[in-house]
Amino acid sequence: MNKGRGFASDNNSGVHPAVMDALNRVNEGHVISYGDDPYTGAAIKKIKKEFGDNVEVFFVFTGTGANVLGLRAATESWNSVICAETSHIHCDECGAPEFFTGCKLLTAATPDGKLTVDMVRRYMHGFDFEHHSQPGVVSITQATEMGTVYTPAEIRKISDYAHSLGLLVHLDGARICNAAASLDVSLRAITADAGIDILSFGGTKNGLMYGEAILFFNPSLSRNFKYIRKQGMQLASKMRYIAAQFDALLAGELWLKNASHANAMARMLADKASAIPGIEITQKVQVNGVFARIPPEIIAELQKEFFFYIWNEEASEVRWMTSWDTTADDIAAFTDLLKNKLK
Ligand SMILES: Cc1ncc(COP(=O)(O)O)c(C=O)c1O
Repeated sequence: MNKGRGFASDNNSGVHPAVMDALNRVNEGHVISYGDDPYTGAAIKKIKKEFGDNVEVFFVFTGTGANVLGLRAATESWNSVICAETSHIHCDECGAPEFFTGCKLLTAATPDGKLTVDMVRRYMHGFDFEHHSQPGVVSITQATEMGTVYTPAEIRKISDYAHSLGLLVHLDGARICNAAASLDVSLRAITADAGIDILSFGGTKNGLMYGEAILFFNPSLSRNFKYIRKQGMQLASKMRYIAAQFDALLAGELWLKNASHANAMARMLADKASAIPGIEITQKVQVNGVFARIPPEIIAELQKEFFFYIWNEEASEVRWMTSWDTTADDIAAFTDLLKNKLK
């Protein structure tokens, strides 16, 4: 019995023990609610140390909430948001960005999940023309939904271009820790220092029970954000429990350890799987996701023992995600099964 272990999502793993300990540590006595407590103050201090003093930090419950409310703060309903066709805001948020911001999402087809300046340029017209949605934000994902990463220079190129036209840049960083680990750079190097204005700083996929943070590197954007978060139903009364988790994630670079481990497990899985005839890895393996084309007839059989999702049914392409708690034994058992099915 493998207790449901598999490669479906980094959301399927549990809570890192150090995070659970932190939750227990703050679970004592009464503190002021809604974020006016010492634990929230301490976590924000740690985040500022990582990202720079000029950042404004707001905790929320979910990644969708972080993306939607971050975009809401940066837009008016007549704006458009340019994003990748494969982006979470376009594919996996049930239209919440459009619903809450009123903005039009303009998507670019991209083979590896990454936007380029040329892809964005296509939509840079209609400025000041009242019949046209006004380009307002470029939203990129780091690491992308396809398991690839932008270098700091690639992000800088996009943000310089966007800023030159008066647009802001939002980064969906549900897996920002995996990206920083992969690139061997600081979290700041791919956010504040690369021109990002708004970051959804993901924690859940990297060992938290729940919790994300919205970071504004452009403080003027956060002026009315406390109202937006409340109206957006993402203001936690017992804020200390989100804050304590982020505190634990940033203590002793747990974020880096967890993300590096998940990335290494994906690399191991890709190396072992690609050595099996009949399996083709379809994307660069830069973080904790492996995309592979495998014979369609073995998918259901594999899923019975190690669940994972089909990414593209027509292409028989699947997605295998690893997480902070994936083990070398998980990989060995899964790749042994793969070998067996393909004998
Ligand atoms: C790229 C990306 N952004 C954001 C999210 C956050 O989603 P949720 O609202 O489920 O926390 C996810 C989760 O799957 C994701 O993969």
